[in-house]
Amino acid sequence: MVDIIVGAQGGDEGKGKIAAYLALKDKADYCVKVGGPNAGHTVFLNGKIYPLKSIPAGFVNPKTKLILAAGSYVILEWLLNEIKETQTENRIIIDPNCVVITEEQRNAERKNPHLMNTIGSVGTGLGMAIKDRIERKKILFAKDVKELSCFIKSVPELLNKEISRSKKILIEGTQGFKLSLLHGEYPFVTSRDTTASTFLAEVGLGPKYVGDIYAILKPYVSRVGPGPLEKEITDEKELEKYHTQGREVGSVSKRLRRIGEFEYETAKKAIMINSATKIAVTHFDLLSPRIKKILEVKEKKAINFLKILNKLSKVYPYPKLALISQGPNTEDIIDLRK
Ligand code: IMP
Ligand code: MG
Repeated sequence: MVDIIVGAQGGDEGKGKIAAYLALKDKADYCVKVGGPNAGHTVFLNGKIYPLKSIPAGFVNPKTKLILAAGSYVILEWLLNEIKETQTENRIIIDPNCVVITEEQRNAERKNPHLMNTIGSVGTGLGMAIKDRIERKKILFAKDVKELSCFIKSVPELLNKEISRSKKILIEGTQGFKLSLLHGEYPFVTSRDTTASTFLAEVGLGPKYVGDIYAILKPYVSRVGPGPLEKEITDEKELEKYHTQGREVGSVSKRLRRIGEFEYETAKKAIMINSATKIAVTHFDLLSPRIKKILEVKEKKAINFLKILNKLSKVYPYPKLALISQGPNTEDIIDLRK
């Protein structure tokens, strides 16, 4: 069975946190990261902080195998450092067609004023690597990199076989719905689609085996670059709470994230286009002090947000509120699935 995690807002919804929790709780056999190193996850585990840009957040489960697919893009140095830091050498698998972003591609992106200034690209070279791939130029595949030779294996062949043996696969989608090249707020988008069907294609799996699709939502929306926010928060005092308690600072870009009020229509569209079956909420602690059960919620803002979620759960295919995260640690989650 395959479960997929998707961002239903402007990226940075806390997908890494949810992926880490699900990898542990649901005992994922495989976690796959798609997309590029512009998408960072921050994982808090046993008092240590892991800022990841290359490997799946599911590394927190020592039994989970970690996969980079044909639709994954990496910066070699960052990847090798993360593998070392997390001591995951013996459980990394990389598809031969995973792309290694070159220095030239990174430089080309950083020297492009349209991308860097108007669009607010993170500058990791992902867009340029995808452009070169589309133009059928010579690009650097993982299979051609000596340091990666010990990790190379065909991911579609492996995972299709493992599905037939009832293994559990978790796909960690990157970025958010507003950043989708197809369905997002063009031109303020990333260089690929950011919805569930594309993530599957990037891994090399068909849609037949999908179990749950988790749409991840925060009680507000953030954007690290320019582009629309329905109701942007500009009050500096209020913003400070998001930047400090909410840690809303770009994990790759280090920019303070812009914050906007919750966007109902964005969430509704994201649920529809991803056919989300579950909703996972993160940063709930910004609305309410820690609780053990959802019935303990007392704050007016938190109650109103739960009402909005209830309305979203009536959007076809009727996603159920499944997880409520209320802090950075992997365990700080109320699991409503049982
Ligand atoms: P690019 O994908 O680096 O070209 O960036 C294009 C736009 O998407 C910019 O506004 C970035 O800030 C935004 N973006 C890219 N990756 C992420 C992410 O992982 N989280 C949030 N925003 C992102
Ligand atoms: Mg991020």
